[in-house]
Amino acid sequence: MHQNHTLTILKLVTAISISLSMLLSLAARAEEDVTETVAASVNVNYQEFKENFSVKRLFASRCSWCHQGYGLKEADGPRLSGTALTRDEVIHRISRGKSPMPGFRKQLKPWQIEALADYIKALPDVEL
Ligand code: HEC
Repeated sequence: MHQNHTLTILKLVTAISISLSMLLSLAARAEEDVTETVAASVNVNYQEFKENFSVKRLFASRCSWCHQGYGLKEADGPRLSGTALTRDEVIHRISRGKSPMPGFRKQLKPWQIEALADYIKALPDVEL
């Protein structure tokens, strides 16, 4: 009698843990499906967005009121063409700022900041 009880409990526990793991794997699969669907739809838009992205337009809207002439001219901010900073230092400067320049890490995506750094490092070392 006592053994029968133990057996029943064991069977129950096994049954519960099997259905639990089935549920969990179902949930995991559902989550995977959703993530994939979302990723796929986001990727399409993201890709389009990146293709239409213009670093010059971004520079003009966010930076040019202090760095004029597309970065070739000194204004409130210094001329950026021919900067002595490395690409990494430029990325850091754009992200963190340096008073009075604001940091942009909260407004821009990392790839946008990298694009701006590439743009600045690619400017010819001339002054307008
Ligand atoms: C409010 C004005 C202002 C805005 C807006 C601004 N900057 Fe600046 N920036 C400055 C000033 C001033 C400095 C010089 C800071 C210092 O070194 O004391 C500077 C320095 C820099 C430097 C370092 C240059 C060097 O050789 O030392 C980089 C790179 C730079 N800015 C990029 C950008 C980019 C890219 C943007 C737009 C996303 C931007 N800045 C927006 C004012 C501004």
